[in-house]
Amino acid sequence: MESLEFIAIVAAIFSFFFIHTWRSNRNNPVTNWPFFGMLPGVLCNLSDIHDQTTTTLKQCGGTFLFKGPWLTNLNFLITTDPMNVHHITSKNFDNYIKGSEFYEIFEILGDGIFNTDSHKWKHNRNILHSLFRQNSFESLVVKTIHKKLESCLVPLLNNTSELGTVVDLQDIFQRFSFDNICSIVLGFDPNSLPNKLKEFPEVAFEKAFNKMEDTMFYRHIVPRFLWKLQKWLQIGQEKSYSECEKIIDQFLHQCISSTFQEQRKVRCTKDDDEPNFNMLKAIVEESEMEKVDRKFLRDNAISLLLAGRDTISSGLSWFFWLVSTHPVVEAKILEEIRAKFITNEENWLITSSLENLNKLVYLHGALCEALRLFPPVPFEHKSAVKSDILPSGHRVNANSTVIYSLYSMGRMEQIWGEDCLEFKPERWISEKGSIIHIPSYKFIAFQAGPRSCLGKNITFIQMKLIAITLLWNFQLEVVEGHNNVCPSVSVVLHMKHGLKVKVTKRGIN
Ligand code: HEM
Repeated sequence: MESLEFIAIVAAIFSFFFIHTWRSNRNNPVTNWPFFGMLPGVLCNLSDIHDQTTTTLKQCGGTFLFKGPWLTNLNFLITTDPMNVHHITSKNFDNYIKGSEFYEIFEILGDGIFNTDSHKWKHNRNILHSLFRQNSFESLVVKTIHKKLESCLVPLLNNTSELGTVVDLQDIFQRFSFDNICSIVLGFDPNSLPNKLKEFPEVAFEKAFNKMEDTMFYRHIVPRFLWKLQKWLQIGQEKSYSECEKIIDQFLHQCISSTFQEQRKVRCTKDDDEPNFNMLKAIVEESEMEKVDRKFLRDNAISLLLAGRDTISSGLSWFFWLVSTHPVVEAKILEEIRAKFITNEENWLITSSLENLNKLVYLHGALCEALRLFPPVPFEHKSAVKSDILPSGHRVNANSTVIYSLYSMGRMEQIWGEDCLEFKPERWISEKGSIIHIPSYKFIAFQAGPRSCLGKNITFIQMKLIAITLLWNFQLEVVEGHNNVCPSVSVVLHMKHGLKVKVTKRGIN
């Protein structure tokens, strides 16, 4: 009897607590529950996390404090205020680091550029920055893309249109970007994209990369002690992560060994015509071969692979979806290509110069617009070294986390105006017909400040070459019934159900 009374009292206290919380949070966008904090709300809306976060941020004026379960480290300030972002990424740059938590979540990246701070990051950045500036690097990127377009992507889409089969364009872009970035960074093409419509090969290294990304996201939403425990027990998501890590490491070590072997035979000449130029070799050159160690190469190679694969394929998928669902934009892009890019030469794409690419202002605007609405990296987080006050007046405690949502920033009326949800390449073009510069702390897709993306220029070159080739030669029609195009829950903004399209050869050329 006594124990029944006890249970009744405990139940009454809990009910009171929950009803009180529910009542006082009724008007709040996110309910802060006793013990569980705001986590239940996140878990219930996980499949729609980016749009839910945007709605909440709009309701809160652009910044709010997320409270995780008690006794966990899941508390953070989340913001879309461009002045806050400017402060974090540039003005008070030294105070906002990646930090130890980021390092743990992205441990597979080791001490590569994405995962390091202060002098280690500076050292990585200096080496990679001088590499990205080399002319041979830009021409390597262009040559690689041309080759892959000609030998794989165009024949594959020709074949697809002949057979009338529906294909997943996102999967195709993933494979295309993976082969390209492996060729550029490692000098090895895994050939994950075939040139005919047969069964797509399963490349273990590529699969491992996908799983690794899932784990990165999982570690963002599960309390640290829990994923650490899973890792220690080798169960669930963490077990498959360890398997992927082995596959990735084995593969990278093979590539590094063959780079060293080749370097011993012949020192890289950095010549434009050097047939086997790749980033690994160039890093060895840049950092003087005697001093560079395998771990440094491995950590930066994996960072570059991650940087260059998913971002480009995600950007391309959203761009083609937007263009194929906005026929007026598509027609304007084609008109611009015809007027400003096509020459009488037979191989006009290959012979065309990079200056010619720069003439495609409308296409540039359309790409920026796609990256604004669907930034491939949807959120960023930083750890505050010392306590600070943000321009919005919000306090940041020492060692606490600040997140800025790149996805939400692209959808804020305060930044982009009332038509912020519309796909309008025109918003990027001035009356004189040139591209309007928008500061990077507003157009944040490539990050802002000293840590901004090193691959921005080559990204536009690659995306333009691919867009021109595909739009000029093919009509890509999103298949009926495949309207459910929405973002996946991941650290990269993929499409949850892929992008199913029907490919038809164009008759205009
Ligand atoms: C659509 C394409 C791309 C987008 C949207 C993009 C976006 C970004 C973002 C948001 C960051 C900051 C990440 C962070 O600090 O956590 C970043 C950094 C970086 N990106 Fe990109 N990126 C793209 C393509 C590329 C490509 C193709 C490369 C080169 C292979 C590249 C190389 C890098 C590097 C090296 C950094 C690290 C910068 C640093 O920490 O100092 N990116 N990028």
